[in-house]
Amino acid sequence: MTSQSICYASGDRTQFHFSATLKDLLEAAPPEQCILITDEHLAGIYGEILSDYRLISFPPGEENKSLPSLEILTEKLLGLRANRQTMLLGLGGGVVTDMVGYLAASYMRGVPFGFVPTTLLSQVDAAIGGKNGVNVGLHKNMLGVVKQPNHIFFSCEWLKSLPEQHWQAGFAEIIKYSYIADTRILSLLQQTTINRFRRQPDELETLIQDCVFIKNKIVLADEHESGIRRILNFGHSAGHALERLYALPHGHAVGLGMRVALRLSEIHTGLAAETSEQLLQLLEKYGLPTRLPHDEKAVIDLLLNDKKSRDKGIDYVLLEKPGVPVLKNLQAAQIREALPVLN
Ligand SMILES: NC(=O)c1ccc[n+]([C@@H]2O[C@H](COP(=O)([O-])OP(=O)(O)OC[C@H]3O[C@@H](n4cnc5c(N)ncnc54)[C@H](O)[C@@H]3O)[C@@H](O)[C@H]2O)c1
Repeated sequence: MTSQSICYASGDRTQFHFSATLKDLLEAAPPEQCILITDEHLAGIYGEILSDYRLISFPPGEENKSLPSLEILTEKLLGLRANRQTMLLGLGGGVVTDMVGYLAASYMRGVPFGFVPTTLLSQVDAAIGGKNGVNVGLHKNMLGVVKQPNHIFFSCEWLKSLPEQHWQAGFAEIIKYSYIADTRILSLLQQTTINRFRRQPDELETLIQDCVFIKNKIVLADEHESGIRRILNFGHSAGHALERLYALPHGHAVGLGMRVALRLSEIHTGLAAETSEQLLQLLEKYGLPTRLPHDEKAVIDLLLNDKKSRDKGIDYVLLEKPGVPVLKNLQAAQIREALPVLN
């Protein structure tokens, strides 16, 4: 295991542990001080090897990233007499890390917490940066906090049981980084495939660490998303609306959202049409959907309630060219113009 400590502007400090084994986890997060929180699916797969920990779980799925689930978990924590010294360890994908990050920030007004991200998407994105929250109705992450975890334990070992669909979803966020921040990753993705990364854990680990550092660099510059951090929302405005309306995996929705963002970029920032074509090919190559019949009005209505909306229009992340994102305030009618790209 290699560990690195990072201190954010808020003063929160996170220990990043890479190639962390179960033994490393047990040493850095001793079972007697921790309660492990996971979803019921992962409790079934990993409950036995994690049996040193007191474990509580909730049903998997985006629909359970909710206030009612938080209330049930809070009651379970009280039942286990969790106190202000207890560390909550969230083991799972982005649903678990979002729930546990939010719960830990509010349980008894804040307890220590750590993450063991078990999906590719949560390793490259959801576990990093401290933005954690829950959905309210159809609205994504409407209640949330910015609070950094004390520990994050990364290991490709967890990914061995990950279903194909969630490998694809993780690559959507990696494709996102490649367009907004690092065109070297874009070239790498063009040259290789999911299966190759699955067969080459060293290459996968390097890719994951590159993504962690890209996100961290941005979060270190703007922890509370008043400026540069907003570029991480590339593909997420339309993406979040599609995700909630059509119950898509987060990554699949972000892929579709990136298509909309690039179509808007062609119209408003003069992005070359070849870049949109290149994204289309990359999404296809990584098994992600490129089209989705949808109700334009419903998408726009949900978009207008997004956290990125302002009194006038929505601050949309567009691209001038790969590696050069820009924010542009767009009206609902302008966004609607780009939605047919998904038909
Ligand atoms: N906070 C952030 O910055 C941030 C960033 C990106 C996404 N997110 C959130 O993350 C969520 C999506 O997360 P996700 O894509 O990780 O999906 P997920 O958490 O819903 O997990 C997907 C499914 O995979 C299963 N699973 C997880 N790890 C597994 C493993 N190793 N083996 C077998 N099955 C496994 C889970 O039980 C679940 O059924 C969304 O709610 C999204 O909003 C948050």
